[in-house]
Amino acid sequence: MAMHNLVQALVFVAVFFNTLAPTVANVEGDALYALRRSVKDPKNVLKSWDPTLVDPCTWFHVTCDADNRVTRLDLGNAKLKGRLVPQLGKLERLQYLELYMNNLEGSIPEEIGGLKSLVSLDLYNNNLTGSIPASLSKLSNLNFLDVSNNDLCGTIPTTGSFSKFSEESFKNNSRLEGPELMGFVRYDTGRCK
Ligand SMILES: *[C@@H]1O[C@H](CO)[C@@H](O)[C@H](O)[C@H]1NC(C)=O
Ligand SMILES: *[C@@H]1O[C@H](CO)[C@@H](O)[C@H](O)[C@H]1NC(C)=O
Repeated sequence: MAMHNLVQALVFVAVFFNTLAPTVANVEGDALYALRRSVKDPKNVLKSWDPTLVDPCTWFHVTCDADNRVTRLDLGNAKLKGRLVPQLGKLERLQYLELYMNNLEGSIPEEIGGLKSLVSLDLYNNNLTGSIPASLSKLSNLNFLDVSNNDLCGTIPTTGSFSKFSEESFKNNSRLEGPELMGFVRYDTGRCK
């Protein structure tokens, strides 16, 4: 009886670990593939992004750590046109999100504010609209932010990591209200779409 239970337990452990490892990796591959599907890619820079692979670590422009978890996305100046996807929030160990100088439109997904490892968020020279998600100010490791040359609106968060960033990070967003208004306006995105 005890032996039978032990065998059952071992089988369970084996099945559990066999299924768990690729599952975690596929979550990140699926998240990146959602981004691929969401953008037009006239230069074919995402051609190697094949969702049938075990993990995305062999894809061009993607860097992983020793555990095969995604740490960098380097897609600056890639002529991508389309929207960012909320699935980017699944890249739990992402440190560098480099998407500057593309034709990205729509809003910055608030899920990016869940990326606790994020060090650098580089979105300058796109056509992003909507407000800067307040969730970004919770990112204690965020050291570099550049959302300049977009079409963002609303109020710039001033708390948390945002106390580190200067006006340079936000310039040329004509509808964005500056942090100098802190204390005089409520954080309000109601009129900003
Ligand atoms: C930004 O988007 C607007 C509205 O879709 C469009 O009219 C404009 O040409 C775009 N600008 C750039 C620089 O892509
Ligand atoms: C401001 O940003 C828009 C959108 O990226 C860009 O088309 C425009 O050239 C920028 N203007 C300046 C003065 O940099």
